[in-house]
Amino acid sequence: MTSSSHSLISRRSGALKSALVLPGDKSISHRAVMLGGIAEGDTVIEGLLEGEDVLHTVAALQALGAKIHKDEKGSWHIKGAGLEGLGQPKQTLDMGNSGTSARLLIGLLSSRPFTSAFTGDASLCKRPMERIITPLTQMGAQFVSEKDRLPLKVTGGSNPQSITYTLPVASAQVKSAILLAGLGASGVTTVIEAVPTRDHSEHMLRAFGVKLTIEKQSGGAEAISVSGQVRLRGRKVTVPADPSSAAFPLVAALLRPGSHITLGGVGLNPRRAGLIETLCEMGARITIHNQREEGGEPVGDLTVDGSELKGITVPAVRAPSMIDEYPVLAMAAACAQGTTRMCGLGELRVKESDRLTLVAEGLKDCGADVEIEGDDLIVTGAGEPPPGGAQIVTAMDHRIAMSFLVLGAATAEPIKIDDGSFIATSFPGFVETMNRAGMRIELA
Ligand code: S3P
Repeated sequence: MTSSSHSLISRRSGALKSALVLPGDKSISHRAVMLGGIAEGDTVIEGLLEGEDVLHTVAALQALGAKIHKDEKGSWHIKGAGLEGLGQPKQTLDMGNSGTSARLLIGLLSSRPFTSAFTGDASLCKRPMERIITPLTQMGAQFVSEKDRLPLKVTGGSNPQSITYTLPVASAQVKSAILLAGLGASGVTTVIEAVPTRDHSEHMLRAFGVKLTIEKQSGGAEAISVSGQVRLRGRKVTVPADPSSAAFPLVAALLRPGSHITLGGVGLNPRRAGLIETLCEMGARITIHNQREEGGEPVGDLTVDGSELKGITVPAVRAPSMIDEYPVLAMAAACAQGTTRMCGLGELRVKESDRLTLVAEGLKDCGADVEIEGDDLIVTGAGEPPPGGAQIVTAMDHRIAMSFLVLGAATAEPIKIDDGSFIATSFPGFVETMNRAGMRIELA
């Protein structure tokens, strides 16, 4: 589904000025389609992200028996198949570039008594799946895979068992995969996480009628439990703008003196808001207005003004609340005055690409001062942008592509990326949206 590869170039821009309309939240969109697909009755989704990742989830739920269409006003309608009503898909389920689609759907189908085959693109087929295969096997699912990677086949257990599982890595995808598998198991399935990760699955499962409890444990840990063999009821879902997509215009505006932009209806779930907290500590002028709740999630409107930033230390404990935002934070750090140390970024090595390495190498090629020490990324800026002028390898990674295009708005020499096509996985219309606000991105 990904469009053919194309190289893009980003040139230094003036101040950014605009009220931007941002795409829907990717995590929430995936979950809305999945829960709508397994619910009984009708689900209507407003503001669904129509990025390629979510469209892979839509196609998978259709292949499993849910009826899904978009109306002329842009709302998405799902007639759910019911959990028990899901049928064995005729084709291999292609997850494209999307780790969230793959891990959550494999979890969901782990309790279904048939075999489903999964594949993905070259990036997804390199990503670790043993983190879900281990707990899902304990629940009774059987897997056929080479080296615990996609392509794989999963056969749901005939009598799926509930488990109590402590997450070995801070991962909302793994947590969600187990909770979704738990829906089809007998008894109560519990996931314990030492560090809280995004809780969209928990919010949405409750909203669809699942009995879910959260018990606070010592040291900030949480035990999340779902009762299995329940029926979900279809409902209306409103998807807020994605804070991970908002991160790109936000940082671009900070880096261009005199900028003043507004980002409306951005999701402000505290477990996703680490970037705003961090940038404010660095001296960013970000104001949150009109805080409210939409569809069970906190949202607000942001205004962002061009700012002088200073380096800080970002603690490892904050990583889960901004895990997808480190590439673009590193761009801001390269323009800040002093050293920014971003701690505990081991998980960045297993995202759509090895983001730790690609960010460090790309920034070095742009003339920035960067080091990796263990799992920490250390970027030292001179209070002005690095020279730029590099050609960046993006390795099928949308966030690497968008991050370096943002940096190109500030550097004296333009920055070229080898392939902008993967931006469509999460932020369709990125180039048009950013150029409308004043950036200068073109086909190279
Ligand atoms: C996501 C969780 C995170 C994040 C990804 C979306 C989700 O992944 O990086 O983009 O929707 O649950 P991990 O669970 O691997 O940390």
